[in-house]
Amino acid sequence: MWFLTILCLWLLHFSEVCNAGVTSRYTRRLYASVDMPIELFPPPESNAPEQVHITQGDHEGRGMMMLHMIISWVTQMHPTPNVVTYWEAEGKRSYKHRAHATTTTYRYYNYSSGFITLIFSHDIFDTKYIYKLGKHDETRRFSFRTPPQVGPDVPYIFGVIGDLEQTYDSNQTLERYVSNPKGQAVLFIGDISYADNHPFHDNRRWDTWGRFAEKSTACQPWIWTAGNHEIDYAPEFEENTPFRPYKHRYHVPYRASQSTSPLWYSIKRASAHIIVLSSYSAFGTYTPQYNWLEQELPKVNRAKTPWLIVLVHSPFYNSYNYHYMEGEGMRVMFEPWFVKYKVDLVFSGHVHAYERSEQVSNVCYNITNGLSTPVKDASAPVYVTIGDGGNIEGLATSFTEPQPSYSAFREESFGHAILELKNRTHAFYKWHQNQDDEPTAADSTWFYNRYWYPHEEPSSTTSMV
Ligand SMILES: *[C@@H]1O[C@H](CO)[C@@H](O)[C@H](O)[C@H]1NC(C)=O
Ligand SMILES: *[C@@H]1O[C@H](CO)[C@@H](O)[C@H](O)[C@H]1NC(C)=O
Ligand SMILES: *[C@@H]1O[C@H](CO)[C@@H](O)[C@H](O)[C@H]1NC(C)=O
Ligand SMILES: *[C@@H]1O[C@H](CO)[C@@H](O)[C@H](O)[C@H]1NC(C)=O
Repeated sequence: MWFLTILCLWLLHFSEVCNAGVTSRYTRRLYASVDMPIELFPPPESNAPEQVHITQGDHEGRGMMMLHMIISWVTQMHPTPNVVTYWEAEGKRSYKHRAHATTTTYRYYNYSSGFITLIFSHDIFDTKYIYKLGKHDETRRFSFRTPPQVGPDVPYIFGVIGDLEQTYDSNQTLERYVSNPKGQAVLFIGDISYADNHPFHDNRRWDTWGRFAEKSTACQPWIWTAGNHEIDYAPEFEENTPFRPYKHRYHVPYRASQSTSPLWYSIKRASAHIIVLSSYSAFGTYTPQYNWLEQELPKVNRAKTPWLIVLVHSPFYNSYNYHYMEGEGMRVMFEPWFVKYKVDLVFSGHVHAYERSEQVSNVCYNITNGLSTPVKDASAPVYVTIGDGGNIEGLATSFTEPQPSYSAFREESFGHAILELKNRTHAFYKWHQNQDDEPTAADSTWFYNRYWYPHEEPSSTTSMV
């Protein structure tokens, strides 16, 4: 089902302030989101590799200064050559490495996928590589830079994108991100192609998404989180296994963090320890995800990775009238751990708008004591909802009023964010509306590390760097 949302055009940019939080009424779009036609992203006529995407291949890099990268692509006619050739772009060592792959295919209702090829390359830290796929006139070349070795003051810049889909607005979000030269890797907060919005979950939409996003996904790692549009559970036409297209197409290094499911895992990158959770998998006491997280959090070494960041599709704190309190079950289970282990930031999607919370927790509440109000908490994370990539269902346009005190800033526009980890104490964060030109950002603030620099953060700022 899709909803065509008619938006109001607010000619003036004004904000109303209530409970110290800011509700921006800045909306500059008149039209609803529309999918880009499937014909805009046709399959190649040859067997050329396409839909190329890369992600981190292991937890951090395994001894010997080596790091694993996962490179995936699709070919339409046959699975070979299933080889990647890669070499250092700069410097003396122009030795060409070759890595061999595994290939898989899947069927979904009456759709048959191309050959999905997956390769692990061994790379050296902080080095630019060129890699080559296919052969003869079907050859395609891309490049990426491997991350610096993990360390407490290693600066790093993440892009943050959620609920991207493949509308004209998605195109604008991705173009804005790509033309912002800063981002080194993307934290993707779930809801990728929205194939499930089409009849029989038309899986060709997974292919067109792969082609659409390749300009970024082939050149820098995207750290994947599963959203509800990845479930693809459709017993009405006997598709009974949740997450099947997603798991075939987007591989993640879950075993490296002792996870038993690709839906929850962790990686370390530069000065960050990133934990990915699944809103759509069991998380109650005794479940695999609960047990994994219980063991994972004490392993986080803040002396090595000061920044502890969680990605989970459904937000815990959300003051829009959309998906209201859907994240509540997981909040009840996991928020006490987030506070205990001083998680710095939690990024969510799902709600098609933008919101940043104050540093709050609601861990005192139990069902009989009536303490149900979130309170300021110096050990609590800030929660960011950034499900505003550009999807066809349109923007979330209604807020709960008055703005709850936990909500620092909210605005119903499409966009992406940039998170700059500067050192172990400071990170600068900016949310860019699609309409904004750099360096104008609609929301920006400093985050202070919970473990190394537990100072009160500015709750709301528009100051630029
Ligand atoms: C799959 O089924 C749908 C609905 O019956 C149909 O429109 C479509 O053409 C079929 N696709 C293929 C590849 O057979
Ligand atoms: C996507 O955005 C780019 C940059 O603005 C533009 O050149 C291109 O035409 C857009 N694609 C579509 C299908 O609108
Ligand atoms: C809930 O809170 C009340 C009041 O603080 C307390 O007496 C009670 O023991 C709590 N219940 C649980 C299960 O912790
Ligand atoms: C960390 O980065 C912040 C912001 O750039 C800077 O003000 C601070 O001095 C840095 N800390 C150290 C120890 O360099």
